[in-house]
Amino acid sequence: MTKPKIVIGNWKMNKDFEEAEDLITQIEEQLADFQLQTEVVLCPPAVYAELVTDHADIDENHFYAGLQNVSEFENGAYTGEISAEMMASMNVDFCIVGHSERRKYFGETDEVVLKKMHRLLTNDIVPVMCCGETLEERKAGKHFEVVQKQIESTVCTLTADELERVMIAYEPIWAIGTGETATPAQAQEMLAFIRSLIEKKFGTELAVFTYILYGGSCNAKNALELFSQPDVDGGLIGGASLKPDEFVKIIEAAETVIKDN
Ligand code: 13P
Repeated sequence: MTKPKIVIGNWKMNKDFEEAEDLITQIEEQLADFQLQTEVVLCPPAVYAELVTDHADIDENHFYAGLQNVSEFENGAYTGEISAEMMASMNVDFCIVGHSERRKYFGETDEVVLKKMHRLLTNDIVPVMCCGETLEERKAGKHFEVVQKQIESTVCTLTADELERVMIAYEPIWAIGTGETATPAQAQEMLAFIRSLIEKKFGTELAVFTYILYGGSCNAKNALELFSQPDVDGGLIGGASLKPDEFVKIIEAAETVIKDN
């Protein structure tokens, strides 16, 4: 049996409060009629965390609460930062780490990403660790090398117990917000490669169990084909997660794949 898919909405730095409320309400209303197997996670900007944690109820509203970033520090004098402990106390269940936008604009290294993953794991929050190459790196044929380094210096340093509570998202930087999606074959090839790295370090059972998602211009039109690839366990969705109709269609695509298998 195919394992249930996961669809995560990363709202990035978008929406004012009223728009955010409206988006959640619309998603909630549209999902109300489904008997979903797909797990849905909404990651709003942290300032709206309570909007999502108030509504996140996997049985009733079919989604979990996530956020987009966490401090690498435990607590204390770190103005502007938000700790994993604070997030856990608000019932946040997932958190994106190492997104390429954080690596690019905020200088996040694999070392920092790993610290953040540890903070999240200590507080029982699932890290969704992002990796992916630039266009230049792909053109130079270095994409496997780049992703391998990102995976080996983060995920592969964890214990098996920790890895069980981690998800990975492959997001080629050239596909993020550009409308240029990786082909299903490119996504499958890289996700299978990532799974092989996990398998080498942790064995087949854990490699099969680990959730590996695709992200980068995933939308209602291409989701079905992407999610049909054997190693694609779901999607990390940016722009399309801001449009309720489109986001729900992506979730429907995930459901279709599960039901057809
Ligand atoms: P887009 O879906 O807008 O390309 O963004 C992908 C992404 O970065 C999700 O984290």
